[in-house]
Amino acid sequence: MGRIAALRCPQCGWEAVTDDTFACGACGAVLEAHMDLGHLTRSDVRVIRTSADKSLWRWFDFFPVKNRGSVVSLGEGYTPLTRCRRLGAHLGMERLYVKNDTLLPSGSLKDRSNSVGISRAVELGFDTAAVPSTGNAAASVAAYAAAAGMRSVVMVPAGTDAAKVTQARACGATVLMVDADLDGMGAFYRAAVKEFGWYDCLSTNPYRNEGKKSYAFELFDQLDEHVPHWIIHPTAGGAGLVATWKGYQELHGLGWAHRFPRLVAAQSAAAAPIAAALESGSATVEPVTAGATVAESIQVGNPHALGLRALRAVRASGGTGVALSDEEILAAQGLLARMAGIFAEPAAATSLAAAIRLRGEGVIGADDLVVCNVTGHGLKQVASVDMSADAVEPIRPDLDVLKERLKATGNEGQP
Ligand SMILES: Cc1ncc(COP(=O)(O)O)c(C=O)c1O
Repeated sequence: MGRIAALRCPQCGWEAVTDDTFACGACGAVLEAHMDLGHLTRSDVRVIRTSADKSLWRWFDFFPVKNRGSVVSLGEGYTPLTRCRRLGAHLGMERLYVKNDTLLPSGSLKDRSNSVGISRAVELGFDTAAVPSTGNAAASVAAYAAAAGMRSVVMVPAGTDAAKVTQARACGATVLMVDADLDGMGAFYRAAVKEFGWYDCLSTNPYRNEGKKSYAFELFDQLDEHVPHWIIHPTAGGAGLVATWKGYQELHGLGWAHRFPRLVAAQSAAAAPIAAALESGSATVEPVTAGATVAESIQVGNPHALGLRALRAVRASGGTGVALSDEEILAAQGLLARMAGIFAEPAAATSLAAAIRLRGEGVIGADDLVVCNVTGHGLKQVASVDMSADAVEPIRPDLDVLKERLKATGNEGQP
């Protein structure tokens, strides 16, 4: 039995009296789920770390789901933490690791939140899950709703990559491509949730927000209880940063983790309100109008619910923010593929792009243990790489033709 102590407002301390209240009744902020972890002891670390469960649900007690029987799982979590020796040597980072979330069930980090969020929806008795999304959350909510036997309705902006839309539709979602900017779509979405009583899978849902604490738990486990110096996270709404910080606080509160990592918000320069606030020392996150960027999945100018918490988490950790140009992002995407064998969508490669920038500035040291969260698969946005299959001319099966082709292509594809 997971023990949810309270749904509490982190701004003013107000507590919800019902399980399906998501916003603070006093100030309107998104509530936070507090878990009662008092029953856990040091010996539970070993039990958890040696569990036969290969998913994030190995950490069941830390997630706001009451009964194990309600868990909706596609085997999410425990993605590889890969030490990228060749890439690290090239970039002057001895201990460069990638947390490879391209390998999550629907191909993006969103599965961490939605497995937890949809499991809770089952307990609360909802029959329809909804989300507005830049694409990855749509595909993920569709997948988990399908597994749970729930309906799903997802909203995406016009122009969202076809791969993500197709993925969501294939899993049975009703996909609505909304002719409005993200803010306009958000307002429309909130009105629809209220009208139809759908289960809200946005970061306004305190249950789903807990799912990304799994970054902290898995890294703690995979690094043999060591804590990295840096965790760099591609950032849009800020949920990953907030939850990672909360996860480490819980581990620290139990006396299991002895340090905290520095967190880095990696954003596209076209939509970088959190990085800007970190840079200027601002106490608030000022929304911006998102410009065009190849990092479409993190093209969010207004982080709404969790932006301020993300800002505070990064500051408390002694970390920083980085706003990256499309050139830096695409260069990182290419290096990741060609020197580490990991094909990520551009948004997901912003973490490596930020690591490169910070290493170049001397902020990250040569011996620092650096974890780049790589959060979405390259197959979700193949058009971002200038290597379309259409450009590969077929050849006759003839060795002379092959020799000609090899000569013509030179060392194409090599770093
Ligand atoms: C690939 C990818 N990476 C990172 C993010 C950032 O998520 P957040 O800042 O909400 O943790 C998103 C979604 O918004 C995403 O799709």
